[in-house]
Amino acid sequence: MSSHHRPLLPLLLLLLLSYAGNSTDPSQCSSLLNLKRSFSSADLGTWKPDTDCCGWDGVLCDPVSGLVVALDLSHRVIAGKLTAGLFNITSLRKLNLAYNVFDEIPIPNEIGSLLNLTHLNLSNAGFAGQVPVGIAKLTNLVSLDLSTISLVQSSLSLVNPNLETLIGNLSELRELNLDSVNISANGHRWGAAVAKSTPKLTALSLTSCSITGPIDSSLSKLSNLSVVRLDQNELNCGVPDFFGKLSSLSVVSLSFCGLTGIFPKDVFVLKNLTNIDLSYNLMLSGSLPDIFSDSRLNSLVLSGSNFTGYLPNSIGKLKSLTRMDLSDCEFSGVIPFSVGNLSQVVHLDLSMNNFTGPIPSLLPPRVSELILSHNRLTGPIPSSIGKLEHAVKIDFLL
Ligand SMILES: *[C@@H]1O[C@H](CO)[C@@H](O)[C@H](O)[C@H]1NC(C)=O
Ligand SMILES: *[C@@H]1O[C@H](CO)[C@@H](O)[C@H](O)[C@H]1NC(C)=O
Ligand SMILES: *[C@@H]1O[C@H](CO)[C@@H](O)[C@H](O)[C@H]1NC(C)=O
Ligand SMILES: *[C@@H]1O[C@H](CO)[C@@H](O)[C@H](O)[C@H]1NC(C)=O
Ligand SMILES: *[C@@H]1O[C@H](CO)[C@@H](O)[C@H](O)[C@H]1NC(C)=O
Ligand SMILES: *[C@@H]1O[C@H](CO)[C@@H](O)[C@H](O)[C@H]1NC(C)=O
Ligand SMILES: *[C@@H]1O[C@H](CO)[C@@H](O)[C@H](O)[C@H]1NC(C)=O
Ligand SMILES: *[C@@H]1O[C@H](CO)[C@@H](O)[C@H](O)[C@H]1NC(C)=O
Ligand SMILES: *[C@@H]1O[C@H](CO)[C@@H](O)[C@H](O)[C@H]1NC(C)=O
Ligand SMILES: *[C@@H]1O[C@H](CO)[C@@H](O)[C@H](O)[C@H]1NC(C)=O
Repeated sequence: MSSHHRPLLPLLLLLLLSYAGNSTDPSQCSSLLNLKRSFSSADLGTWKPDTDCCGWDGVLCDPVSGLVVALDLSHRVIAGKLTAGLFNITSLRKLNLAYNVFDEIPIPNEIGSLLNLTHLNLSNAGFAGQVPVGIAKLTNLVSLDLSTISLVQSSLSLVNPNLETLIGNLSELRELNLDSVNISANGHRWGAAVAKSTPKLTALSLTSCSITGPIDSSLSKLSNLSVVRLDQNELNCGVPDFFGKLSSLSVVSLSFCGLTGIFPKDVFVLKNLTNIDLSYNLMLSGSLPDIFSDSRLNSLVLSGSNFTGYLPNSIGKLKSLTRMDLSDCEFSGVIPFSVGNLSQVVHLDLSMNNFTGPIPSLLPPRVSELILSHNRLTGPIPSSIGKLEHAVKIDFLL
């Protein structure tokens, strides 16, 4: 039926491609070659002279203007320098240099000349030292990622400019990831800066940033916040009730923060919540509410906190739950029979609490790690254990 339409599509594509090819800006191609020459190592085999740079790996051109609009040079073993060959490409909207091996050089201030940038990703690229003020000029940024997965010490710092100056004019930001950047600011400073400057923020990640508490009340204005990660900072404060009203929250990660007080129960019933990790806050108290059947919760980790009370029978309604780690808390009472209904659970750790009574006769069918040790459980080992096809670790001791 449609056979006589078929030749049209390849023809259109051909037209489009030749149009794009014809309009490539040759001076941008030579700038990129200059950039490549400034690298001491780089996995950029397709970047060759006398070829169209719009076809090179990691290079994306606008089909109409022919200008380079995105460079994704992540994971390309790049070391050496960033030079004018890059800062020349002012048509760039997205730049990703993540996961390269720059040798602890500073982020060049000239990056601030790429005024059209909406996405800048320098995560785990090997940069070190003070974050340059140039980035503060990139007022079109929607996403900024300067994070490092660092187990040793922070490699980037935000002293001058500080966080307030860096993001002061970045009012379009939706995603800000500064994991392991040394911000060293107290709660009123970092909280107020974020709330005031970036009203559209949906994801905030400040893991291991040397920030302290309190969690500033102005953050309650960020009504579209979906991801909040503040792990491994000595916040030493309570979690304000407004967290339970941030209706877009999907990921809440606050492990190792020295949190105190009572965690707002309402967070657990937020409709979009998928991951919550409050582990290793020894003085953080709380209890689990009744669960709604439409919960999307995927991972519930409260280990090493001071959560108390019974597990609600409604816990079996968590149909998406894959990981539940409630070890080393103060839970008590009987383990509800409904845990057998947690059809997706792979990792279930209820060890080191004060659970009593029998082990539920039905166990989650897909569980691979089931750890119930160090409670006060009694009665027989359920026979359903023989049906756990995926089990790799089971510990019922004591
Ligand atoms: C920057 O662009 C200008 C004009 O397009 C060009 O003359 C110059 O060589 C470029 N610089 C580098 C380092 O590529
Ligand atoms: C920057 O973006 C604007 C708006 O999209 C565009 O008009 C302008 O040409 C771009 N600048 C460069 C150098 O490409
Ligand atoms: C930055 O790039 C890395 C590697 O491609 C990716 O894993 C990470 O999610 C990116 N960050 C953002 C904020 O998109
Ligand atoms: C932010 O914008 C204001 C007003 O345009 C300007 O005075 C200030 O210098 C800018 N800050 C930075 C860090 O660029
Ligand atoms: C962070 O910076 C502050 C001062 O700017 C310094 O005292 C502190 O040692 C730094 N922290 C880390 C973990 O490097
Ligand atoms: C929050 O998100 C909604 C829907 O995407 C959008 O209409 C609204 O403008 C956003 N609010 C802010 C402050 O960005
Ligand atoms: C919850 O998530 C859905 C789909 O991911 C999205 O459409 C909806 O806007 C979110 N709700 C809130 C309150 O953010
Ligand atoms: C643990 O929670 C209980 C009950 O809420 C409380 O009485 C106790 O003081 C808390 N312990 C710590 C160390 O916070
Ligand atoms: C488990 O789920 C089934 C089907 O949804 C339901 O009939 C049963 O009552 C649930 N059992 C428990 C103990 O919640
Ligand atoms: C465990 O629960 C029993 C009562 O059910 C109580 O007497 C005991 O103090 C609890 N132990 C701990 C360590 O909380």
